Amino acid sequence: MERPAWAPRNIDISVPSVSRMYDYYLGGSHNFEVDREAARKAMEFMPGLPKIMQANRAFMRRAVRYAADEGISQFLDIGSGIPTFGNVHEVAQAARPGAHVVYVDHDPVAVAHSQAVLRGNEDADVVAADLLKPQEILASPQVQRLIDLNRPIALLLVAILHFVEDADDPYGAVAELRDALAPGSLLVVTHASYEGIPLPPERAEGAVDVYKNIRNPLIMRSREEIARFFEGYDMVEPGLVPMPNWRPDTALEDEDPYSFSGFAGVGRTA
Ligand SMILES: C[S@@+](CC[C@H](N)C(=O)[O-])C[C@H]1O[C@@H](n2cnc3c(N)ncnc32)[C@H](O)[C@@H]1O
Repeated sequence: MERPAWAPRNIDISVPSVSRMYDYYLGGSHNFEVDREAARKAMEFMPGLPKIMQANRAFMRRAVRYAADEGISQFLDIGSGIPTFGNVHEVAQAARPGAHVVYVDHDPVAVAHSQAVLRGNEDADVVAADLLKPQEILASPQVQRLIDLNRPIALLLVAILHFVEDADDPYGAVAELRDALAPGSLLVVTHASYEGIPLPPERAEGAVDVYKNIRNPLIMRSREEIARFFEGYDMVEPGLVPMPNWRPDTALEDEDPYSFSGFAGVGRTA
């Protein structure tokens, strides 16, 4: 099987990865045939998947700009994925030159490609770590060097929490991170849900089954379950809403019905 130079030696390229599938949905080039095949199968059930991913990225960029406008100059992006168009450090550093950004992902391709993209950028770095081990993330040399936890930060958990099953206690990990944040910090979340998908649930379930089959289940949570991740935060207006509805730049930011699947929100620690 093909193994391009950017692919780390230690990865199994016969198994699809959610970060490379996501890269494919977004039109990126860091994916293999196994990833494309799984992504195409999911798209047979939900042809609008790329629209959902684009709405997710667009929300993320607006939320980063919002944080920068609020005076935040440190960003911790966990589940950052394979770098693509309009990355957090580009948006943050354009809005606030010198802003510090630390990316975290457990996928070796995401980490290797982030290292390549960030070479020479003194103000941004990447950590190979797991969301479920918050203390390892916080104690990493990269976070220690770039993030001052005594000042507000923006913590991004964008399109990651729906890959963590309840049995692995995502709520506990999110609470542990919250407890490490200074007052005035922001939590930025997007999460998949059956709510809002313009399809009967049984069609959408076909796409969810693709993720189950690659042993990386996609956990569809209700709006109420997603809201629980914001325990201890005050919601920033307009609250937890479909992604295009969160502070759109223009009145008609995105009209594709798929874009309204799932939820996005920003909370602020008191
Ligand atoms: C769909 S991508 C989202 C990328 C980016 N946040 C965005 O929204 O554009 C999800 C990323 O989360 C990462 N991920 C999933 N579970 C994780 C975990 N437990 N710890 C760290 N990263 C994780 C995956 O490797 C993948 O790169």
